[in-house]
Amino acid sequence: MRSLLSLLSDGAFHSGEEVGAILAISRAAVWKQLHKLQQDTGLSVESVKGRGYRILGGLEFLDCDLITTLLTDRARPLLEGLEYSAQIDSTNARALTLAQAGLAHGVAVLAEQQTAGRGRRGRSWTSPFGRNVYASIGWEFEGGAAALEGLSLAVGVGIVRALARVGVSSLKLKWPNDVLWQGKKIAGVLIEMVGDASGRCQAVVGVGINVAMHRAFESQAIDQPWADAESIAGAHVSRNAVVAAMLSELLPLLHEYHIHGFREWMAEWQSLDAMAGRSVQVFTGEARRDGVAQGVNHQGALLVSIDGSTEPIYGGEVSLRLA
Ligand code: BTN
Repeated sequence: MRSLLSLLSDGAFHSGEEVGAILAISRAAVWKQLHKLQQDTGLSVESVKGRGYRILGGLEFLDCDLITTLLTDRARPLLEGLEYSAQIDSTNARALTLAQAGLAHGVAVLAEQQTAGRGRRGRSWTSPFGRNVYASIGWEFEGGAAALEGLSLAVGVGIVRALARVGVSSLKLKWPNDVLWQGKKIAGVLIEMVGDASGRCQAVVGVGINVAMHRAFESQAIDQPWADAESIAGAHVSRNAVVAAMLSELLPLLHEYHIHGFREWMAEWQSLDAMAGRSVQVFTGEARRDGVAQGVNHQGALLVSIDGSTEPIYGGEVSLRLA
C-alpha cells in the first residue's frame, strides 16, 4: 500500500501498466489495490481513461528526519522521540499509553490519519489521511494539575505563532483554545492527563491542525465551520513544516511552563481573543447564561460579565458561543 501511495503522491497521472510494472502486479491487481487503498484511507484516486490514475493535488508524507532538521536549535534538544504511524486510532490515546508506562516525556506521536480522533467534550475530530496534522506531545510535570493551569490556552498561542511561521496569519483564539480564522476553526487542542493530580503527572498535549482539509472534503461531514492553512495562505503549505513549527513553539513552552505558568502568555492570549467585548452565551451542559466576554485572568479562566458582576468561568465541560 505504501509503495502505491508513494508512486501516486506526486499528483501526476500513472497508467495501469506503469503501476503494475513498478509494483510487479497485474493490471487487475492494480485496480483491486487502488480500490482497497481508497477504502482504507478515504483518499480519492481519480481515474481517467487513456491517462491512468492520480491523487488530485498529490500527497506529502510526514517525514520524521525532515521534521527534526527543520526544528529550531532551541527545540531540537527537547525532543526525545518522534513516533510515526500511517494510521492510528488517536495520537492522544497512543501518547497516554506511553505516558502510563513513563515513556512519553518529550515524545511526539504523529499520524497520517486517525480512525478515532478525539475532540474536546466527547466530540470526535475529523482526521482524513495525509491532509492535516494530528500530533500529541507527552510532557511530565511536577506539581500536579495546578502546574497545568492555563496550559491549554498557552498552547493555543503557540499554535498561532507556529502557523504564522509558515505563512498563515490573521488567526484568533476562542476560549479556551480553538484557533479560528474569520470565525472558522483551523486548529484545536485536547490536553489529557495521567498520574498524580497533586504530584508528578504526565500531560498529553494533542493538537489537530487543518492544513489541506479542502482536498479531502468540500464542506460536508463536519459539524462546525472549518478553515485550513492552504486556503488561508492561498498556496501549498507543507505539513512537515507545520509540524516542525508547532514543535519548535510547543517544546520550549512545555519546558519552561513551570517557571511562570500562564502569566507569561496572558497578554498575548488577550491580544488574540476573538470574543473580547462581545455578547456570549456560556453553556454548562444544558444550562445557558448570557453575558459579555471580558478576556481571561492569570489562571486562564474566562471572565464574563453577567448581570453587572464579572465571573470567572473555568474549563472542563463549559462551552462558549457568540450570542
Ligand atoms: C478540539 O475539540 O478542539 C480538540 C481537538 C484535538 C484533536 C487532536 S488531533 C491529535 C490529537 N489526537 C486526538 O485524538 N485528538 C487530538
